[in-house]
Amino acid sequence: MSAPLRQRKSWKALETHYLEINSRHLREFFAEDPQRGERMRRDAEGIYLDYSKNRVTDETLSLLIQLANESGLALHRDAMFSGEHINVSEDRAVLHVALRMPKGTPLVVDGVDVVEQVHTVLDQMTDFANRVRSGEWKGHTGKAIKNVVNIGIGGSDLGPVMAYEALRYYSRRDLTFRFVSNVDSTDFVEAVRDLSADETLFIISSKTFGTLETLTNARSARDWLIQQLGDASAVSKHFVAVSTNEEKVSAFGIDTANMFGFWDWVGGRYSMDSAIGLSTMLAVGPEGFYEMLEGFHAMDVHFQTAPFEENLPVLMGLLAVWNRDFLGCQTVGVMPYEQYLKRLPAYLQQLTMESNGKHVSLDGTSIDYQTGAIYWGEPGTNGQHSFYQLIHQGTTIVPVDLIGFAKSLNPLGEHHDILSSNVFAQAQALAFGKTEEEVRAEGTPEHVIPHRVMEGNRPTNVLLCEILTPRLLGALIALYEHSVFTQGTIWGVDSFDQWGVELGKVLSVQIIPELESSSEPEPSHDSSTNSLITLYRALKRKEDNRGDQ
Ligand code: F6P
Repeated sequence: MSAPLRQRKSWKALETHYLEINSRHLREFFAEDPQRGERMRRDAEGIYLDYSKNRVTDETLSLLIQLANESGLALHRDAMFSGEHINVSEDRAVLHVALRMPKGTPLVVDGVDVVEQVHTVLDQMTDFANRVRSGEWKGHTGKAIKNVVNIGIGGSDLGPVMAYEALRYYSRRDLTFRFVSNVDSTDFVEAVRDLSADETLFIISSKTFGTLETLTNARSARDWLIQQLGDASAVSKHFVAVSTNEEKVSAFGIDTANMFGFWDWVGGRYSMDSAIGLSTMLAVGPEGFYEMLEGFHAMDVHFQTAPFEENLPVLMGLLAVWNRDFLGCQTVGVMPYEQYLKRLPAYLQQLTMESNGKHVSLDGTSIDYQTGAIYWGEPGTNGQHSFYQLIHQGTTIVPVDLIGFAKSLNPLGEHHDILSSNVFAQAQALAFGKTEEEVRAEGTPEHVIPHRVMEGNRPTNVLLCEILTPRLLGALIALYEHSVFTQGTIWGVDSFDQWGVELGKVLSVQIIPELESSSEPEPSHDSSTNSLITLYRALKRKEDNRGDQ
């Protein structure tokens, strides 16, 4: 059992070390060591991580690695891979890594070979995907499926939509994919407005099959389908479910023969490579899906076997802890310079913030250090013309992950080199900035000089890859998963529960009848909630003056 985090030897050494190097600038680090850029680069599975533009020295890295050792990272990692119940607050194993283990690699957990279970479902998914993609699976009126609508939320949406967008280049273009997550009816209505029900397949994705948003959307989808096709028996040809809860799937009216299962040891935000990825498999085909799994698995093996000094997820995780707890950075920007990765930041928000946004340690004691940072981001060049100003010259330091590719999937003239030049230029500008002397030497009027000075010394990771493929996507996501794991291990939190989302759900269920009620009893909450509910009811009653829509 490790000592509490702030009492660990390496943590104390890092505190002293931080004071020693805090005033130093990346300009100095680079000037002192012409090899820094090459030395502080590692690669694995087609991803090159340049971490040289972080505010670290060799000593920082060595102390962070000592911290990883002192925090029992290797043991905790091995416990995860062997199926120990490391999700302590829910008493569950955490085995998303089993989802991508090759067939025939036995992993017996709680008396069951989980890899065999995984491959049984993968085979079932493959068979189904082949039948839909070939047109053999017919809808109620005998037509082949042309549209796939995934209904889910959180991990049952963000992974599928991110992966679909990421792998769109490899997807079947004659199939239309839509993703409905928000309980706002507009989401569903807009998703289906141009679809023919007789060519549409709904995938209801929900680990618990109890999520209000998803079930509300699923019921509306069922009503829409029955209304369009005029026959309730149409549901069996147009609805499939992905869930761990057979009973609830069946109660909803979906034949469990059309259900694709997974297990309580797969967390929602770690589930895109389980049956929750059925829409991904329908889009890119089983082959593409298996390629993605290979990428995930390759990064898992790297995480398990590479020494920490060479280990990409470990290095990224440790740098994240350094930036969060020593530099005091509250947020991390993730900027993909690859249009197909436009949903990656949203996906990573759930992965990182639902995992490590915790205020107590594994044994339930309050934490006296900072944990999970706020993750956010946008495709890179768009961000540059919007919020990068604050990253360059604002009063808060925002470490940024810049993700670039050497090749475009859609090469066109000079576009790609222009795009990529920005990856390097932004990292350079953030690190080195522009001094007063440099600004003055450009002939800038004295009163404008302070406005144009750029401090620099702002940390970035550059992740450079050759080209986006399913395999690469798998490796990239596993890299972030294990970086999150590394951070959670150092912080000693349960990265696999999410109790914080429960209270809002419970309160909303209490409020729903108060909004629907026509008899309008007095709401009985705090004065703000009461007056908002009263106002809502009054606005709801007001005549709608929009005219004919
Ligand atoms: O409310 C949070 C959450 O539980 C996420 O962790 C999960 O990914 C999401 O809801 C959806 O849950 P389900 O797949 O059970 O519908």
